[in-house]
Amino acid sequence: MAADNKPQPGTMTDRNLALELVRVTEAAALAASRWIGQGKKNEADGAAVEAMRKAFDAVAISGTVVIGEGEMDEAPMLFIGEKVGAGGPPMDIAVDPLEGTTLTAKGGPNAIATVALAENGNFLHAPDIYMDKIAVGGGLPDGVVNLDDSVASNLRNVARAKKCVIADLVACILDRERQKVVIAHCREAGARIMLISDGDVAGVIATAMPDSQIDIYLGSGGAPEGVLAAAALRCVGGQMQGRLLYEAEDQIERVRSMGHADPRRCFTCEEMAKGDVMFAATGVTSGAMLRGVKRFGGGAITHSIVMRSHSGTVRYIEAHHNFAQKTWTPN
Ligand code: FBP
Repeated sequence: MAADNKPQPGTMTDRNLALELVRVTEAAALAASRWIGQGKKNEADGAAVEAMRKAFDAVAISGTVVIGEGEMDEAPMLFIGEKVGAGGPPMDIAVDPLEGTTLTAKGGPNAIATVALAENGNFLHAPDIYMDKIAVGGGLPDGVVNLDDSVASNLRNVARAKKCVIADLVACILDRERQKVVIAHCREAGARIMLISDGDVAGVIATAMPDSQIDIYLGSGGAPEGVLAAAALRCVGGQMQGRLLYEAEDQIERVRSMGHADPRRCFTCEEMAKGDVMFAATGVTSGAMLRGVKRFGGGAITHSIVMRSHSGTVRYIEAHHNFAQKTWTPN
């Protein structure tokens, strides 16, 4: 990689692997879609994980999972450290085969299958703990949001940058008891709020989507989801900060053992997903960004987004799958 962050011809990332990655998210979404509304989140997740794992066998990379389904002893597949791919350039991989397991089980909106890819060492290594997050879309002055500032001050700065008043802003927050202070501060400051039941990767990305109503993402969610969201924002433009949150001493030790000298520091989007980053997601159920899987006799239609930070190109891909001609058949 050259100093200007641009991949050079012949180097490991001169190909847009994101276009290959989308097959992996399509496979996971197709498999999970069988379980929409069935009230079985583990089965939905298991189907997505298995399909994604198999699909990686056809991707020409030597991948290492750095954000995955958990530690080796707790996840049968796509665990942290697992090697995937058919061989090729060494890449780090962040996966969430089914982001929104409960959404899928209930048939709710915004469940996605998602993957990000970067050269080795470029993703923040984050265990499955919480992360405090703040994010806004592109085109705003650097530093417009800061996790160390109050909710009111962040909203004031975003409103000023967008030349509007706080009451014009919509904040997206995961609807959890632990967020009641953030929600209260947001309301006191006068911002409108969109509470989501799950799926904060899509919630963060929505801040950067021109057609979405969401101006800012606030509050805590999963740390692995934070890294995936940062990867997406690196591609589409935007700012994000994240700080790992600890509920037990052994979590701090785990994070130290992953190489973080200061486990309580705040990470920027660029620190969570460095260099040339590729991101792909396929809708499982429909949301603002992606349509969900549409099944019909013998096949299905999927809707995906594929993007790359180096070029800033965002592609939407509608794929028509004929199950009879696939080497594998989603159940
Ligand atoms: P799953 O798909 O693993 O169920 O995660 C959904 C999700 O809502 C994420 O988007 C979010 O980061 C995390 O769960 C929040 O965790 P919790 O439900 O414990 O608040």
